[in-house]
Amino acid sequence: MSNPLRHLAIIMDGNGRWAKERGLRRIKGHEAGVETIRRITRYCAEHPEIETLTLYAFSTENWKRPKMEVDYLMYLLERLVHTERKLYAEKGVRFETIGDLSPLSKKLRNTIEETKRITRSHDRLSQVLALNYGGRDEIVRSVRRVLEAGEEINEANITRRLDTPFGDVDLMIRTSGEQRLSNFLLWQLSYAELAFTPTYWPDFSVEELESLIEQYKQRQRKFGGI
Ligand code: IPE
Ligand code: IPE
Ligand code: MG
Repeated sequence: MSNPLRHLAIIMDGNGRWAKERGLRRIKGHEAGVETIRRITRYCAEHPEIETLTLYAFSTENWKRPKMEVDYLMYLLERLVHTERKLYAEKGVRFETIGDLSPLSKKLRNTIEETKRITRSHDRLSQVLALNYGGRDEIVRSVRRVLEAGEEINEANITRRLDTPFGDVDLMIRTSGEQRLSNFLLWQLSYAELAFTPTYWPDFSVEELESLIEQYKQRQRKFGGI
């Protein structure tokens, strides 16, 4: 019996190193990374088993980067969320976000809200961008909502009040060779299978994704049982 793959999550890492190794500026790596987002989203939309694709785009810690890089990332994200509307319509992709959007610019927030509205009825795949996202931050905000609602602090209530009800991750992939979570989906990764590849995000291909999924399918998931 092979494992079902409903929720795939990816830490898209290595854009900066990809660019540096080519003698380019880091932002060129982020530009190239946008193309990978398109490829991988398209692939997932064409594979009905996958219901949710969560992509780590900007962490609560990424504000530490030089202002110029942060500004450029925000510009690229704005452009992506706008231009992807075509792909979202063509492939039935619903656009969602997790993370605290409040510190983002009004322009970016408006584009995000508009794209969410336009794609609300699409039901093939949810593409969830983690933006100004931190796993700890999300858990804290969820617990706060549970308290505000006067509910009991338990796993079900905390899960329900996370940023989105997309649920547990089945497979989490991180590119670029780093083997850490960097504050990504701490709650939802509890029983996820993890895969790490040395490939930098701009070079990450559909063929490699397929091969990682194939390996995931063969693994034995035990969830604490025997
Ligand atoms: C991932 O690539 C993209 C973001 C974190 C926004 P990096 O920019 O972290 O690339 P490296 O890790 O420096 O190579
Ligand atoms: C994690 O990558 C965040 C994103 C991919 C958006 P980082 O490159 O920021 O993580 P660290 O600093 O290497 O842990
Ligand atoms: Mg990195």
